[in-house]
Amino acid sequence: SSPLSSTTAPSPLFPLSPLPAFGYASPFPGTFVFGVSASAPQIEGAAFEGGKGESNWDRFSRQPGAVHGGDTLDVAVDHYHRFDEDFALMASLGLKDYRMSIAWPRIIPDGTGAVNEAGIDFYRRLFASMRKHGIRPWVTLFHWDLPMALEERGGWTSRETVDAFARYAEVVVKTFSDEVKHWITLNEIRCFTMLAYGYGTKAPGRREPEAVVNQTYHHAIVAHGHAVRAVRQHGGPGAQVGLTDNCDVSVPVSESPEDIAAATAWFRDRNAHILGAIHAGHYPESYLKRVGDAAPKVLPGDFDLISQPTDFLGLNIYTGHYVRAADNAQGYEQLALPKNYPRADPPWLHLVPQSMYWAPRMAAQLYGHRSIYITENGCGYDDEPVTDGECHDLHRRDFVRGHLRELHRAIGDGVPVNGYFLWSFIDNFEWEDGYQRRFGIVHCDYGTQVRTPKLSARYYARIVQERRIL
Ligand code: NOJ
Repeated sequence: SSPLSSTTAPSPLFPLSPLPAFGYASPFPGTFVFGVSASAPQIEGAAFEGGKGESNWDRFSRQPGAVHGGDTLDVAVDHYHRFDEDFALMASLGLKDYRMSIAWPRIIPDGTGAVNEAGIDFYRRLFASMRKHGIRPWVTLFHWDLPMALEERGGWTSRETVDAFARYAEVVVKTFSDEVKHWITLNEIRCFTMLAYGYGTKAPGRREPEAVVNQTYHHAIVAHGHAVRAVRQHGGPGAQVGLTDNCDVSVPVSESPEDIAAATAWFRDRNAHILGAIHAGHYPESYLKRVGDAAPKVLPGDFDLISQPTDFLGLNIYTGHYVRAADNAQGYEQLALPKNYPRADPPWLHLVPQSMYWAPRMAAQLYGHRSIYITENGCGYDDEPVTDGECHDLHRRDFVRGHLRELHRAIGDGVPVNGYFLWSFIDNFEWEDGYQRRFGIVHCDYGTQVRTPKLSARYYARIVQERRIL
């Protein structure tokens, strides 16, 4: 008979091979937190409602050419009016931990003046809705939306912003200490300092010399310190606080001892001014040498604030850089990626899942962190529209699976990672890329505001439910 007739033979049942002790199918630890992440400016909309003040991003998005397609934050996914529906959907997917942010311009519209009771009331209603749906808030105090009045006076280049932030943080923590037990001081310092005042791609779009940018970094870590102090003083029993950093991530080209040492040295150098400084309680010598005259001005007492112990470190992990040992002064070299190296749709988002293994491992090793949360991980794609109620975002499913496997490996190796928050719950305003770039596991039709869970939402929900990679 011809070989083709074999297709009619009964199909064999292939057994699954036995799994190693902490193989990928073994469960995540019982205390491990699986959540989703979003931020106020990217989802709330209602940019000029409820007494909210104008933010730096409200202004920046109106600057011609600043944001793709001229998109603004005015409506976004209208979460301001639809939060209850959103939390019902979250709960129906079995998601119980949600990382969100509070909009400073809603609480103190001009940055320094009166507290806006309507803003406080909005978040009270929001927290009440979360409680009703059994969802725990992880609250970021600053996710880049600065009151415009402060931006006009210099924004993060000015020390005044640090003082204003200290007051804002105190107001928020005092007000919501009964609702919130997990606080994140700042989100991704590099993005609201270097990219905002150096590269000019994020609000307010300034291009300043290195010394100015280094000063914004310094102001940011002092602000972080103020927020830690606010939580310690006013957070109430059981309150926890940490920074969310988007550290530069290295992946050793091979897992040989030399390449691992080289990648670790690269990580230490590239993160010296944020994680390194916070940990050491001063700027590392090598950093000061590198920046020379452009070093930031430090006031007495700054580092007492900056280096206060925190309860956890949040890491936002999206991509990584390949590093190997080299015969040079530093002992390492970073390799440029080939131009057709796989990536998601944003050009910066190269697919390097091993960054999820190495980043928490190196952070724990270099700075002694005992509790790390992945506060963001996800991917942006210009997804296909929903057809017959479905959006088959298989690339996002692959992304999540690949990264969770690396995280799982890290946990198996003893790296103290206690949670993972997928960015993002729902499609949203992706900063200068506007709305075309979708990061959500829930699709939003921006014309009708209809929400549709994508395939990745169902897939992730199942992982969260079973607490293992599927
Ligand atoms: C990190 C930021 O915190 C978030 O606001 C942004 O949308 C995602 N990365 C994706 O770029």
